[in-house]
Amino acid sequence: MKREIVININGEKVDATVEHRLLLVDFIREVAGVTGTHVGCGFEGRCGACTVLVDGAACKSCLMFAVQAEGADITTIEGLARSDTLHPLQQAFTDRHGLQCGYCTPGFLMTLYDYLKDPGCDASVEAIREAIGGVLCRCTGYVHIIEAAQQAIEVLAQM
Ligand code: FES
Ligand code: FES
Repeated sequence: MKREIVININGEKVDATVEHRLLLVDFIREVAGVTGTHVGCGFEGRCGACTVLVDGAACKSCLMFAVQAEGADITTIEGLARSDTLHPLQQAFTDRHGLQCGYCTPGFLMTLYDYLKDPGCDASVEAIREAIGGVLCRCTGYVHIIEAAQQAIEVLAQM
């Protein structure tokens, strides 16, 4: 069974007729051709690599059907930077070596973006650990990821 839907991805309307069972992550990657969002665990909701913002809230896009996102505003990793300027979170991951292969990085960035949008968010190691608890990294140290999050919190507080 198919249905025509429109989803806004990083400010651009993407209109397509899709199967009801098509996952949002597949809509983003295969239909819209926006491939920065990754699939890491085989659509089981365990790794968080597929995390995007759906109307501003971090969601695992392998756990949603595309039709459920009809009319929603989706932000992916491609939507974080402003022209040539990295978002402070992206800059912090670069500065603090918060990645190695980078496969998990879109998931961490979108999860932390949601966490950091609260100006009063807790910058403690424990709170950040809890915030990123749904995202897995297989090759780097979480220490650097947490340091990057703390740097971004500091930078954003001064903006
Ligand atoms: Fe969605 Fe792993 S691909 S949580
Ligand atoms: Fe390789 Fe996280 S940097 S999986």
